[in-house]
Amino acid sequence: MPSRILVAYASREGSTSGIAGAIADEFRKAGYGTDVKEIESVHSLEEYDALVIGTPVYSGKFLGDIAGFAARHRDRIAHIPVAGFVVGIAPVYPKAGDVHVFTGKLASAVAPAKAVAITMFAGSFQSEQQGFLVRSLGKMMKIPEGDFRDWGAISAWARELPAKMGI
Ligand SMILES: Cc1cc2nc3c(=O)[nH]c(=O)nc-3n(C[C@H](O)[C@H](O)[C@H](O)COP(=O)(O)O)c2cc1C
Repeated sequence: MPSRILVAYASREGSTSGIAGAIADEFRKAGYGTDVKEIESVHSLEEYDALVIGTPVYSGKFLGDIAGFAARHRDRIAHIPVAGFVVGIAPVYPKAGDVHVFTGKLASAVAPAKAVAITMFAGSFQSEQQGFLVRSLGKMMKIPEGDFRDWGAISAWARELPAKMGI
Protein backbone atom coordinates (compact mmCIF):
# COMPACT_ATOMS: atom_id res chain seq x y z
CA MET A 1 0.00 0.00 0.00
CA PRO A 2 1.49 3.40 -0.93
CA SER A 3 1.77 5.89 1.92
CA ARG A 4 -1.05 8.34 2.59
CA ILE A 5 -0.21 11.97 3.24
CA LEU A 6 -2.28 14.67 4.92
CA VAL A 7 -1.76 18.33 4.06
CA ALA A 8 -3.39 20.31 6.90
CA TYR A 9 -3.64 24.08 6.72
CA ALA A 10 -5.18 27.23 8.15
CA SER A 11 -6.19 30.08 5.83
CA ARG A 12 -8.24 33.25 6.17
CA GLU A 13 -8.10 34.67 2.63
CA GLY A 14 -7.39 31.48 0.69
CA SER A 15 -3.76 31.89 -0.34
CA THR A 16 -2.44 29.25 2.08
CA SER A 17 -5.24 26.92 1.04
CA GLY A 18 -3.99 27.33 -2.58
CA ILE A 19 -0.44 26.47 -1.53
CA ALA A 20 -1.69 23.39 0.37
CA GLY A 21 -3.52 22.31 -2.80
CA ALA A 22 -0.41 22.74 -4.96
CA ILE A 23 1.66 20.65 -2.51
CA ALA A 24 -1.00 17.93 -2.54
CA ASP A 25 -1.01 17.94 -6.37
CA GLU A 26 2.71 17.10 -6.38
CA PHE A 27 2.16 14.20 -3.96
CA ARG A 28 -0.69 12.84 -6.08
CA LYS A 29 1.44 13.09 -9.24
CA ALA A 30 4.06 11.02 -7.41
CA GLY A 31 1.41 8.37 -6.63
CA TYR A 32 0.64 9.13 -2.96
CA GLY A 33 -2.93 9.10 -1.69
CA THR A 34 -3.28 12.66 -0.36
CA ASP A 35 -5.94 14.58 1.54
CA VAL A 36 -6.05 18.34 2.07
CA LYS A 37 -7.94 19.51 5.16
CA GLU A 38 -8.33 22.58 7.31
CA ILE A 39 -6.54 22.05 10.62
CA GLU A 40 -9.71 22.40 12.66
CA SER A 41 -11.50 19.69 10.68
CA VAL A 42 -8.83 17.03 11.29
CA HIS A 43 -10.11 14.55 13.88
CA SER A 44 -7.57 11.77 13.49
CA LEU A 45 -4.18 11.17 11.89
CA GLU A 46 -4.48 7.38 12.17
CA GLU A 47 -4.92 6.79 8.44
CA TYR A 48 -1.90 8.92 7.47
CA ASP A 49 1.76 7.99 7.18
CA ALA A 50 3.02 11.57 6.87
CA LEU A 51 1.85 15.12 7.64
CA VAL A 52 2.49 18.51 6.05
CA ILE A 53 1.13 21.42 8.05
CA GLY A 54 0.91 25.06 6.99
CA THR A 55 -0.30 28.36 8.36
CA PRO A 56 -0.18 32.04 7.42
CA VAL A 57 1.09 34.76 9.72
CA TYR A 58 -1.16 37.62 10.78
CA SER A 59 0.40 40.43 12.80
CA GLY A 60 3.35 38.28 13.76
CA LYS A 61 1.24 35.31 14.92
CA PHE A 62 0.24 32.04 13.30
CA LEU A 63 -3.39 31.99 12.22
CA GLY A 64 -3.61 28.24 12.87
CA ASP A 65 -3.22 26.83 16.36
CA ILE A 66 -0.33 24.57 15.40
CA ALA A 67 0.76 23.82 18.98
CA GLY A 68 -2.84 22.89 19.86
CA PHE A 69 -3.00 20.58 16.83
CA ALA A 70 0.32 18.96 17.81
CA ALA A 71 -0.91 18.49 21.38
CA ARG A 72 -4.23 16.93 20.24
CA HIS A 73 -2.41 14.51 17.95
CA ARG A 74 0.78 14.08 19.94
CA ASP A 75 0.74 10.28 20.02
CA ARG A 76 0.61 10.00 16.24
CA ILE A 77 2.64 13.10 15.35
CA ALA A 78 5.63 11.80 17.27
CA HIS A 79 5.76 8.70 15.07
CA ILE A 80 5.18 9.92 11.51
CA PRO A 81 7.35 12.26 9.41
CA VAL A 82 6.21 15.89 9.55
CA ALA A 83 7.03 18.93 7.40
CA GLY A 84 5.72 22.48 7.77
CA PHE A 85 5.37 25.76 5.93
CA VAL A 86 4.63 29.31 7.00
CA VAL A 87 3.00 31.80 4.62
CA GLY A 88 3.36 35.56 4.77
CA ILE A 89 4.78 38.57 3.06
CA ALA A 90 8.01 38.58 5.08
CA PRO A 91 9.94 36.74 2.30
CA VAL A 92 9.26 39.69 -0.05
CA TYR A 93 8.95 42.41 2.59
CA PRO A 94 11.37 41.89 5.50
CA LYS A 95 9.70 44.60 7.63
CA ALA A 96 6.83 42.12 8.09
CA GLY A 97 9.06 39.84 10.16
CA ASP A 98 12.07 37.57 10.16
CA VAL A 99 11.61 34.43 8.08
CA HIS A 100 13.94 32.45 10.36
CA VAL A 101 12.02 33.45 13.45
CA PHE A 102 8.76 32.27 11.86
CA THR A 103 10.23 28.96 10.66
CA GLY A 104 11.84 28.43 14.08
CA LYS A 105 8.48 29.03 15.77
CA LEU A 106 6.79 26.50 13.52
CA ALA A 107 9.50 23.93 14.23
CA SER A 108 8.86 24.38 17.98
CA ALA A 109 5.09 24.36 17.58
CA VAL A 110 5.00 20.89 15.96
CA ALA A 111 6.83 19.30 18.93
CA PRO A 112 7.04 16.45 19.84
CA ALA A 113 7.44 15.94 16.10
CA LYS A 114 10.86 16.73 14.66
CA ALA A 115 10.08 18.24 11.29
CA VAL A 116 12.11 16.94 8.35
CA ALA A 117 11.65 20.28 6.56
CA ILE A 118 10.28 23.69 7.46
CA THR A 119 10.06 26.66 5.11
CA MET A 120 8.31 29.98 4.57
CA PHE A 121 6.57 30.85 1.30
CA ALA A 122 5.57 34.29 0.15
CA GLY A 123 1.79 34.66 0.21
CA SER A 124 -0.54 37.24 -1.19
CA PHE A 125 -1.60 40.64 0.05
CA GLN A 126 -4.53 42.29 -1.70
CA SER A 127 -5.58 45.43 0.08
CA GLU A 128 -8.97 45.65 -1.68
CA GLN A 129 -9.95 42.49 0.25
CA GLN A 130 -9.23 44.24 3.54
CA GLY A 131 -11.24 46.58 5.72
CA PHE A 132 -10.46 50.28 5.98
CA LEU A 133 -8.06 49.93 8.90
CA VAL A 134 -5.85 47.24 7.34
CA ARG A 135 -5.95 49.04 3.96
CA SER A 136 -4.75 52.26 5.56
CA LEU A 137 -2.15 50.45 7.65
CA GLY A 138 -0.91 48.61 4.56
CA LYS A 139 -0.51 51.90 2.69
CA MET A 140 1.18 53.56 5.62
CA MET A 141 3.65 50.67 6.03
CA LYS A 142 4.14 50.52 2.23
CA ILE A 143 3.32 46.81 2.21
CA PRO A 144 3.70 45.55 -1.36
CA GLU A 145 0.46 44.40 -2.93
CA GLY A 146 0.01 41.36 -5.05
CA ASP A 147 0.12 37.59 -5.22
CA PHE A 148 3.72 36.63 -4.49
CA ARG A 149 3.19 32.88 -4.39
CA ASP A 150 6.08 31.22 -6.26
CA TRP A 151 4.44 28.09 -7.66
CA GLY A 152 7.74 26.75 -8.97
CA ALA A 153 9.37 26.96 -5.54
CA ILE A 154 6.29 25.47 -3.85
CA SER A 155 6.17 22.47 -6.22
CA ALA A 156 9.94 21.94 -5.98
CA TRP A 157 9.76 21.88 -2.16
CA ALA A 158 6.87 19.40 -2.26
CA ARG A 159 8.61 17.10 -4.74
CA GLU A 160 11.58 16.71 -2.39
CA LEU A 161 9.50 15.87 0.68
CA PRO A 162 8.72 12.15 0.22
CA ALA A 163 12.45 11.30 0.02
CA LYS A 164 13.16 13.43 3.09
CA MET A 165 10.26 11.74 4.88
CA GLY A 166 11.49 8.30 3.92
CA ILE A 167 8.05 7.30 2.56
C1 LIG B 1 -3.89 42.22 8.75
C2 LIG B 1 -2.74 41.45 8.17
C3 LIG B 1 -1.60 41.23 8.92
C4 LIG B 1 -0.51 40.53 8.37
N1 LIG B 1 0.62 40.36 9.13
C5 LIG B 1 1.70 39.73 8.58
C6 LIG B 1 2.91 39.60 9.33
O1 LIG B 1 3.05 39.99 10.49
N2 LIG B 1 3.97 38.98 8.73
C7 LIG B 1 3.89 38.50 7.44
O2 LIG B 1 4.89 37.96 6.93
N3 LIG B 1 2.74 38.58 6.71
C8 LIG B 1 1.66 39.19 7.24
N4 LIG B 1 0.49 39.32 6.53
C9 LIG B 1 0.40 38.70 5.19
C10 LIG B 1 -0.37 37.40 5.21
O3 LIG B 1 0.34 36.40 5.91
C11 LIG B 1 -0.57 36.97 3.74
O4 LIG B 1 -1.52 37.85 3.20
C12 LIG B 1 -1.04 35.52 3.58
O5 LIG B 1 -0.91 35.16 2.21
C13 LIG B 1 -2.45 35.32 4.07
O6 LIG B 1 -2.78 33.95 4.01
P1 LIG B 1 -4.28 33.45 3.74
O7 LIG B 1 -4.70 34.04 2.40
O8 LIG B 1 -4.18 31.97 3.66
O9 LIG B 1 -5.14 33.91 4.87
C14 LIG B 1 -0.59 40.01 7.06
C15 LIG B 1 -1.76 40.22 6.30
C16 LIG B 1 -2.83 40.93 6.82
C17 LIG B 1 -4.06 41.14 5.98
